[in-house]
Amino acid sequence: MKPKILVTEPIPDKVITHLSSFGKIIQGERGEYNTEEDLIAGLQHADALLCMLSTPVSRKVIENAPKLKVIANFAVGYDNIDVNAAHEKGIRVANTPDVLTEACGDFAMGLLMAVTRKFNEAEQYLREGKFKGWEPLGFLGMELRGKTLGIIGMGRIGQSFAHRARAFGMNIAYHNRNPLPDDITHALDAVYYTDHRQLAREADVLSLNCPLTEGTHHLVDEDILKIMPDHAYLINISRGPVVDEAALARALKEGQIAGAGLDVFEEEPEVHPELIQAPNATILPHIASATFETREAIGMLAANAIISVLKGKKDSEIPNLITG
Ligand code: DGY
Repeated sequence: MKPKILVTEPIPDKVITHLSSFGKIIQGERGEYNTEEDLIAGLQHADALLCMLSTPVSRKVIENAPKLKVIANFAVGYDNIDVNAAHEKGIRVANTPDVLTEACGDFAMGLLMAVTRKFNEAEQYLREGKFKGWEPLGFLGMELRGKTLGIIGMGRIGQSFAHRARAFGMNIAYHNRNPLPDDITHALDAVYYTDHRQLAREADVLSLNCPLTEGTHHLVDEDILKIMPDHAYLINISRGPVVDEAALARALKEGQIAGAGLDVFEEEPEVHPELIQAPNATILPHIASATFETREAIGMLAANAIISVLKGKKDSEIPNLITG
């Protein structure tokens, strides 16, 4: 009998065709498995789970999934999955590193341009019929050349953003648990900061590219926002809870910082009402990896991890398994 694979949301057809050749797909609708109860019900007969970053794969879910052998997240970030609980039950967990790096690097650069040059604010002005001709003092923004981009979390996506920012003439500074190898640092001419507070104090743009963990929860809080220069911008394409959203809304309102480009939110899909109103925030609905090419590649990588586990391959043969 074919193994059963629960796919929590509609994903690219090519991925479903690929998975169908191996298992029987239980296909979810948009948001159908976004609660623990619905997910537990859906997992009663499933051998594998292909889930989204919005799927709450908690300890309770894992303990109530009698046949589950593998969980593959349709994302690189996997803070929605209790990996320890899965490993305790011998369930393998995979994510999708590498395949979305370039799409996210492009997106971060675009978001930086949009917020520093007021794209959305100016577009709204035009659409509202307020454009009455070229204005010498209209919508002035910050030029990027010579400014410092401070990146917290210099992994694959942080580095791809840094390469693009270098091409725009920005200087690169970063904070990581450990400094990067010399060849990478030299290629980016990047300066390492042991203290993320010092980086926040000095950067013209502070970008969050770290995973969400206990250690990074509310990493950007009221104190950090206070020490950032008032001309500085915050970019967040990592996870919403890395930022204290209420503190950020206040900082934007009071002009403590110049603006913020946000693709992620603390309580997705909810967005703090003051951020919705903030003219100096460019806010987007978690679309950093949203290209046709990348979403298909994410799906194929997740699907291949499922097929490999169900075929009995060893961990060392499955490159995107999360270990440890
Ligand atoms: C991921 O894959 O974790 C990202 O949030 C996609 O934007």
